[in-house]
Amino acid sequence: MSEEEISAEIILDHYRNPHNYGKLEGSNASMTEYNPICGDTVHFQLRIAGTVIEDAKFVGRGCSVSQASASMLTDMLKGKPIEYLESLTESGFLDVLGIKVGPAREKCALLSLTAAKKAVKASR
Ligand code: FES
Repeated sequence: MSEEEISAEIILDHYRNPHNYGKLEGSNASMTEYNPICGDTVHFQLRIAGTVIEDAKFVGRGCSVSQASASMLTDMLKGKPIEYLESLTESGFLDVLGIKVGPAREKCALLSLTAAKKAVKASR
């Protein structure tokens, strides 16, 4: 299996069995982002204590790329300092996802990252 194929498998697995899906109790930073082209949405929720992201969950609907990337981002952010999220670039996140997406799907892949960053900004 190529690295690309392995990444595609991981995406599919997160899509079928999303991690941290649902309402986050005690959420104090949240934001909904949607892709106006298809209408798919990601509602990303964080619970921040001081400078640390204690917990992260999401709800949403849409394509495998948008939903799987949200699932992966919740795993990545739990227990991390806020600066980790703030310093995570779009290209850095796309690298972590490991799949090649064209410009049209890039918006799908970045919905959750955009929502998470806006959530933190809005909570300040
Ligand atoms: Fe809608 Fe991907 S096709 S977010």
